[in-house]
Amino acid sequence: MSLTLQPLHPLFAAEASGIDLARPLSDADLKQINAAMNQYAVLVWRGQPLSGQQQIDLTKAFGPLDLGLKKVFKRKERLEDEHLIDISNVDAEGQVARRDSPKNLSNFANQLWHSDSSFQDPRAAYSMLHAVVLPSWGGTTEFADLRAAYDALPERTRGEIESLSAEHYALHTRILLGDEAYTDDQKKAIPPAVWPLVQTHPGSGRKLLFVGVHAREIIGWPTAEARIYLSDLLEHATQREFVYRHEWQVGDLVMWDNRSTLHRGRRYDIAERRELRRTTIEDVPEARLMAA
Ligand SMILES: [Fe+2]
Repeated sequence: MSLTLQPLHPLFAAEASGIDLARPLSDADLKQINAAMNQYAVLVWRGQPLSGQQQIDLTKAFGPLDLGLKKVFKRKERLEDEHLIDISNVDAEGQVARRDSPKNLSNFANQLWHSDSSFQDPRAAYSMLHAVVLPSWGGTTEFADLRAAYDALPERTRGEIESLSAEHYALHTRILLGDEAYTDDQKKAIPPAVWPLVQTHPGSGRKLLFVGVHAREIIGWPTAEARIYLSDLLEHATQREFVYRHEWQVGDLVMWDNRSTLHRGRRYDIAERRELRRTTIEDVPEARLMAA
């Protein structure tokens, strides 16, 4: 079978079909998907009712799995494999979580524009999110193209940020949301990571603007000035014309490249059950990605 792509947005994102993700991928499949990811950065696969294990196997074909914030929270989880990240409002006992539960706090942080695990080194390359149970309204996921964001920057800004780097911190979004109750061990579990604001995507050779809400400092700048600038850059990167909005259907699997896009979940009624499962690979040399 071969991959078919249908663009979903003028700049990036495509609906992908023609490959059964539930079966082991051939080298040819892997190559085609990587090439499509390099071009489109977000691929939407409809009607792929994967089990947890099938999703893990699919993801592992691309590289080693990332645990992200699980290294900090170490909460009791309900899913069978620790590499399956439970993007749901369901607690460890299988009930819809209380409104003020830690689970919901994490979900609210997911509603801020971010790149998964940009707060650690190695950071994340691809993430895959699979829809299992959906609420009656809301809960869409939006993606922003950081390559298009860079292309549209004024010359003056490009020159200014060319040699700047930002520090990304795992708990920054939680602190922004008013949650500061962490132990010293939790605060230190993931040391901050530093990433250049301007990067060249290894798969496409395109320059991009690497921002996101995990970024809390610009190295060498006063904090207030850095945060205002980071917030301006983030606003630029997420303006409507750079954004694809995904309306979920059960059985969808959406894969995106965290090195070239940002994403955020949108509001829904947290009294209604919503279950998605995320798997993510680390951006390491042994990952089976494709260079330009
Ligand atoms: Fe995310």
